[in-house]
Amino acid sequence: EEWKDRGAAVGMKEEYDASGKLVLRQVKKGVRDFVFGRTLGEGSYSTVLLATDRQTLKEYAVKILDKKHIIKEKKIKYVNIEKDTLNRLIEHPGIVRLYYTFQDSSSLYYVLDVASGGELLGVLKKIGSFDEECTRFYGAQILDAIEHMHNRGVIHRDLKPENVLLDDQMHIKITDFGTAKLLPDPRAPRDPTKPYDVTGEEQESTRAKSFVGTAEYVSPELLTDKNACKASDLWAFGCIIYQLLTGRPPFKAGNEYQTFQKIVGLEYEFPLGFPPAARDLVERLLVLDPSRRLTIEHIKNHEFFDGIVWGRGLWRQKAPRLK
Ligand code: ADE
Repeated sequence: EEWKDRGAAVGMKEEYDASGKLVLRQVKKGVRDFVFGRTLGEGSYSTVLLATDRQTLKEYAVKILDKKHIIKEKKIKYVNIEKDTLNRLIEHPGIVRLYYTFQDSSSLYYVLDVASGGELLGVLKKIGSFDEECTRFYGAQILDAIEHMHNRGVIHRDLKPENVLLDDQMHIKITDFGTAKLLPDPRAPRDPTKPYDVTGEEQESTRAKSFVGTAEYVSPELLTDKNACKASDLWAFGCIIYQLLTGRPPFKAGNEYQTFQKIVGLEYEFPLGFPPAARDLVERLLVLDPSRRLTIEHIKNHEFFDGIVWGRGLWRQKAPRLK
């Protein structure tokens, strides 16, 4: 199997400097350009290490993927999806940015923004549940990041509090795009050799689709039609809002099968004291028919988000103290 990113780990480019002297400029970073530190996280196919750029001393999170393991488990497609997706989503404060990719004989390396606050799930577990103000703030940031993804033709498909990281300012950064679905980029020029796509979403393949995502946050349409759409991310968003306020996801059972049964039966309850505006929002997101779920524009205008100033200001705002 061939990796798309084949190329020298450290590429040099010949250039002339201001005085006309021929100089070598490094155009591609490699393993040797970083000092690796402690482990930030571990996944089934990867390890994330803290790393420092030797030249700039800037810190990064480097995701190291083991080639042998990826080939053995037939996950090559997913590591390429992750890279293509991250490359499409650069320059949004709510999404982990991919700076460089390179490889050596054993591994692939993705150099990412470091999110020193760890997972939103960890913070939530530590304090139990969030109040309405914190849920509104973190919910608004997550929604703004989802909007950016969707505008660029990316469906995440595995949104959950573990995939929402926090930076040193306690602002969110969404990560883990290994199971994302890439739609044609609405900003890319259309390929004139292909017919118009009326849906704006990807043409359906007839190939058997395998389950992607995490049981508790998976949308009913993925379970019944094996098909995820942009609204599937908004189902997960509804689950996250519920979880931030209560400390647990709305659909949870002893095993995956029972969890799926609850999802397709819309079997969940609001505990006493659940804020009414949040309840109304969640009820309009946890709707079985994806076409009847609130759209991002409607969510932004929902009374639960009253007081939120959408746009860049959201990322300049100081995070509320957790309580
Ligand atoms: N764990 C996984 N990815 C991470 C990142 N980008 N920053 C910090 N910890 C992580």
